[in-house]
Amino acid sequence: MIRRRIWESVYNSRAPDAVSWYRPHLELSLELIERCAPLSSASIIDVGAGESTLVDDLLSRGYRDLTVLDVSKNSYRRNEGAIRAFQRNDVRWIHGDITRICLPAQSFDLWHDRAVFHFLVNSEQREAYVRSVLNAVRPGGHVIVSTFGPEGPAQCSGLDVVRY
Ligand SMILES: C[S@@+](CC[C@H](N)C(=O)[O-])C[C@H]1O[C@@H](n2cnc3c(N)ncnc32)[C@H](O)[C@@H]1O
Repeated sequence: MIRRRIWESVYNSRAPDAVSWYRPHLELSLELIERCAPLSSASIIDVGAGESTLVDDLLSRGYRDLTVLDVSKNSYRRNEGAIRAFQRNDVRWIHGDITRICLPAQSFDLWHDRAVFHFLVNSEQREAYVRSVLNAVRPGGHVIVSTFGPEGPAQCSGLDVVRY
């Protein structure tokens, strides 16, 4: 609950390009996704998508089975790109905490997480996240998780992170 409030306040108070993780396009993620899931029919979830333009870029590359999940409702409401996608029926928008939500079993070919897992600072949260991955990703699917490295900051948005 506290975590959700913190993220709502981040997205309420800062412009999309004023957050430290902002990039106009997630080029590395796009490259990895296209390599792991080349078929446009691939079912893809972006966990903790925030205001990222990844969903728009995937739509423009022809991907049609897209799910966007975030603990903050504000995160995707304000993003112009995401609002365009929000109006499309072919994107599923889920509001929830990835350590608590129950996703449909074996429903995704590809799981993408840029800068969410490192916020899970206790082992129960990380175990819940891994259970969610194992339940929701189909056998043979791919999981892309990017986190801060050992030289990265110890905090982001005032929250502690774990560096990997
Ligand atoms: C640092 S931002 C990264 C946003 C986006 N992935 C990007 O690369 O631009 C982290 C995002 O994860 C979301 N988040 C944090 N903890 C979460 C959780 N437990 N479940 C779902 N989303 C979470 C936040 O609301 C925020 O949008």
